[in-house]
Amino acid sequence: MKGVARRRVGRNPLPLQGCLWLCAWLLVAPFTSGCGGERSALNPAGRDAEKIAELFYWMVGGAVVVWLIVMALAIYAIRHRPADPDRRKVRLLIVGGGTVFPTVVLTGLLAFGLQMMPDLLDDGPEDGTRITVTGEQWWWRVRYDPPDGDGFELANELRLPRGERVPIWLRAADVIHAFWVPALAGKTDMIPGRVNRMALEPTRTGTFRGICAEYCGLSHAKMEFSVVVLERPEYDAWIAAQRQPARPPTGPVAARGQTLFSSLGCSACHTIRGTGATGVLGPDLTHVGSRTTLGAGILPNDIPAFLKWLTDLHRFKPGVKMPSFEMIPEEERLALATYLEGLE
Ligand code: CUA
Repeated sequence: MKGVARRRVGRNPLPLQGCLWLCAWLLVAPFTSGCGGERSALNPAGRDAEKIAELFYWMVGGAVVVWLIVMALAIYAIRHRPADPDRRKVRLLIVGGGTVFPTVVLTGLLAFGLQMMPDLLDDGPEDGTRITVTGEQWWWRVRYDPPDGDGFELANELRLPRGERVPIWLRAADVIHAFWVPALAGKTDMIPGRVNRMALEPTRTGTFRGICAEYCGLSHAKMEFSVVVLERPEYDAWIAAQRQPARPPTGPVAARGQTLFSSLGCSACHTIRGTGATGVLGPDLTHVGSRTTLGAGILPNDIPAFLKWLTDLHRFKPGVKMPSFEMIPEEERLALATYLEGLE
């Protein structure tokens, strides 16, 4: 019977080969697709993300070595079955390979991971501009409070200075969300009734994508934000510009948009500093035209996108509380879109 079993394996190596190829592909796949770009934790642009990527590579390296050893042993066991195995060797293999080896490898990886903790848990300095991000269904309320007063609010966008460790305070308005900028750092939960704190330390300039990493309802997957990393002088100039009230509408279409914004009741939910609009339910729109995206990362920021949003926002973001303005004439929607897009 032993001889029959051995021959059957020898004649049909396809399942074994298939398994080996599948495992190899599963190990290699993360490196061949989806690992570049502004959303990738393996394309780090922040000190914490660099450490996390380093840990990831060490763990994958360890996994590959262990996998190769296990596969070599499996192939050896299939091809060579001694009629009378040496019990001492078998016991040694079980104790050594099954207990001692994993304990040594996992302890090594644990120690390597733990020595990174103090750096990763560094919350940044207490002084400086206080940045608070609040997760809401399904957008991000962002507040900057510079030490000399005159704080301001925006939405779905953070700007940070390169090379500085910046603390971020995290809150949630309704349900649990999680704040994650893969290229900059690990994720931190945003829990109602609690303030969590983390820090970001970007190492290069650019625009990086943040996402919500905790299922928070119907449009969880449509809750993104941008982190724009600037050199310090540009960052200071951006802060100064954001502190300014909204600029007045330019041209008759935008002016009509501003009137409509008030008469249609938009100002009950949105603030536009420098006008009578002081609503706090929805995003502050004072400088909405200067942001990188619309609708928390789901549309570009231009007049056609504003029009799409006003007409059909429930298609882009199911479950959103804001009503659609499909019922007003297109000319009025265009005026609103022109006014909002001009708020830079
Ligand atoms: Cu917010 Cu998922």
